[in-house]
Amino acid sequence: MVLIDSAGEWRGVGRAAAEERQQPGGNRLEVGNLDYAVAMLRIEAAGIHDLPGAYRTCLLADDAGQDGSARYRDPDLLGHVYVGPYLARGKGTQLVVGDGAGAAGYLLSADDTLEFEAWAEVAWWPALRERYPISDDDSRDAELVRHIHRPPRTPAELVEAFPAHLHIDLQARARGTGLGRVLIERLLSDLREREVSGVHLGVDPDNANAIGFYEHLGFAALDREPGTLLMGRRLDR
Ligand SMILES: CC(C)(COP(=O)(O)OP(=O)(O)OC[C@H]1O[C@@H](n2cnc3c(N)ncnc32)[C@H](O)[C@@H]1OP(=O)(O)O)[C@@H](O)C(=O)NCCC(=O)NCCS
Repeated sequence: MVLIDSAGEWRGVGRAAAEERQQPGGNRLEVGNLDYAVAMLRIEAAGIHDLPGAYRTCLLADDAGQDGSARYRDPDLLGHVYVGPYLARGKGTQLVVGDGAGAAGYLLSADDTLEFEAWAEVAWWPALRERYPISDDDSRDAELVRHIHRPPRTPAELVEAFPAHLHIDLQARARGTGLGRVLIERLLSDLREREVSGVHLGVDPDNANAIGFYEHLGFAALDREPGTLLMGRRLDR
């Protein structure tokens, strides 16, 4: 059994691989559901129709990888910041994972982080700024609204060495099956093909599972910002 994407057969992940890769204590797919879940799995280039599922996935992984729904009054705000612009821009490698139960995950990225930020400044943030007035209360919603009004700029020295960045999230039922590796390897291969020299990401320092995953796939810790560990991987060596 293989995982199919729009380009044809996708190597390396299938029922046997999925069974092998399940980690003790991790999120196991029920064996009874495995045939069904794996048979229905697909990885596709994301389109605008993937917005609702990807917004949902983002919320379900927000709390150091766990469900963050209870942390927000407006369930769309998080997706507006971390998902929407990538799907709306539609450039580079944007992948969604789906299974028989709907959206199961995504990998979103930008080859050139500075160019992405400049695009968002013109095409993404202005309409949201009108809809969400800035406030100084200390809720998580207000924090995201401040992000919309004053998105942090990635430091020049970081993008010089690691110009691309990524976000990856899988819903609980799809974790520990090898999908994370498939998505990251697909991105790294695309970036190498486009001669991008490095990629970085930000991860919650409390998200030990994701940090272990990134380290295992060759990413190294670069720096710390408040609430974020920056990690990167060079692609030209
Ligand atoms: C983090 C995440 C994307 C990883 O994807 P995944 O499908 O669970 O991971 P995989 O099964 O593909 O693991 C790939 C490899 O990493 C290894 N690995 C995974 N987690 C690990 C950990 N914590 N420590 C060490 N190795 C780890 C696996 O053993 C596997 O090794 P192998 O391919 O050499 O056999 C996924 O678990 C997830 O979405 N978690 C919740 C959301 C999240 O935290 N996102 C990141 C936000 S920055």
